[in-house]
Amino acid sequence: MRLWGGRFEGGPADALTRLSVSVHFDWRLVPYDLLASRAHARVLNRAGLLADDELARMLAAIDDLEEACKSGAFRPTVADEDVHTALERGLLERLGSLGGKLRAGRSRNDQIATDLRLYLRDHVRTIVSRLVELETALMSQAEQHAETAAPGMTHLQHAQPVSFGHQLLAHVHPLTRDIERLRDWDKRAAISPLGSGALAGSSLPLDPQAVAAELGFDAAAANSMDAVADRDFAAEFLFCAAMIGIHLSRLGEEIVLWASQEFRWIEMDDAYSTGSSIMPQKKNPDVAELARGKSGRLIGSLMTLLTTLKGLPLTYNRDLQEDKEPVFDAVDTLLLVLPAVSGLVSTMRVNTAKLETSASDGFALATDLAELLVRKGVAFRDAHEAVGHLVVWCQVNDKEFGELTDEELAKVSPHFGGDVRDVLSVPGALAARKAYGGTAPDRVRDQLDTLRETVDAQ
Ligand code: ARG
Repeated sequence: MRLWGGRFEGGPADALTRLSVSVHFDWRLVPYDLLASRAHARVLNRAGLLADDELARMLAAIDDLEEACKSGAFRPTVADEDVHTALERGLLERLGSLGGKLRAGRSRNDQIATDLRLYLRDHVRTIVSRLVELETALMSQAEQHAETAAPGMTHLQHAQPVSFGHQLLAHVHPLTRDIERLRDWDKRAAISPLGSGALAGSSLPLDPQAVAAELGFDAAAANSMDAVADRDFAAEFLFCAAMIGIHLSRLGEEIVLWASQEFRWIEMDDAYSTGSSIMPQKKNPDVAELARGKSGRLIGSLMTLLTTLKGLPLTYNRDLQEDKEPVFDAVDTLLLVLPAVSGLVSTMRVNTAKLETSASDGFALATDLAELLVRKGVAFRDAHEAVGHLVVWCQVNDKEFGELTDEELAKVSPHFGGDVRDVLSVPGALAARKAYGGTAPDRVRDQLDTLRETVDAQ
């Protein structure tokens, strides 16, 4: 049952039918297509093109069809081509020729653009809730570990001790930016294409602005050609999704490292780790690895759509049907990964003892020593040099900073005295970094308070 048979003598080739069918993936747009159909029926009624009793029967049939879709009593066939075609068949089955009135003044071109916006605005709200859950999981771990010292790293080498809570919160900020980005995205997604028809608008007295308001959009599209050609909202969503994927992949990578024998910073809960089919002792970080791995397909989806859009002439072209699978895949992927990562984070046990004993490994307090000299008036350049010599001396003599005697210190540089030991404390090093944004536990707690307010408002 095609929507366009009138001017054709023969039916389509099988190869064409198989190529053009999209109902196997656009079927998930049913609730949104029916929502838009209800609004369209009302506008036709107000325009005098659908009598009151016809409107009532139409709305009842749409409700009935929706139920039938939900229960599986009404199912699409490949002959339906797409969700719009299938649903029109459903209305015709229920209403006879009245079912054919709904197509007046609308085209699948404005319908599909409307459906996809409705679908995405709805699902983005769910994605935001899942992001908030992950933020919350990270924040409650951070709260417990504001005072826990950990080796802070650059280049994956011990650099300076940090609060482990500070490091966990460093993964929350990117997620707050992701949510901000999605909120901002919604302003541009909240534009209704319905009423644009195929590309030029309609000669029928429709009211696109009233339809937009009824569907919860902020406004109707100001240009019907742009409305049916535009997929910026889909591409922009995919960028947001890819960015979330990247943030999850960086968190995932850290968790893989933390759970390794070499780090032993955390122990994953059994519920969020996997075993090996051959090695009985294994406990693997598959959740974190899949979070890392799935970022690849999120980036791929963005590239797929951008590549599809590049160079397309206005307005609607069938290429645009390729927008849906990457968008749906990105939504599904995020809704799959986010709860798993939240569970992994909220149930992981932090090995506080291991973190604290290794926090100062690798001469991680060297900067504190150099800054002690700076406070005594030594130029940083000279202080850096002197501490560098001290590190080499310790390495050669197999000693830690804390094990040096006054004589040994004095031998390396006249700048060093017994006061060196005053700054050789990890808690001291953390507490000293107390300016705004620093890793001092007090600052971490302030940061947590501010983040809680931000997340509550999200
Ligand atoms: N299924 C199409 C899509 O997803 C909408 C149909 C528009 N088709 C057309 N021949 N104008 O983009």
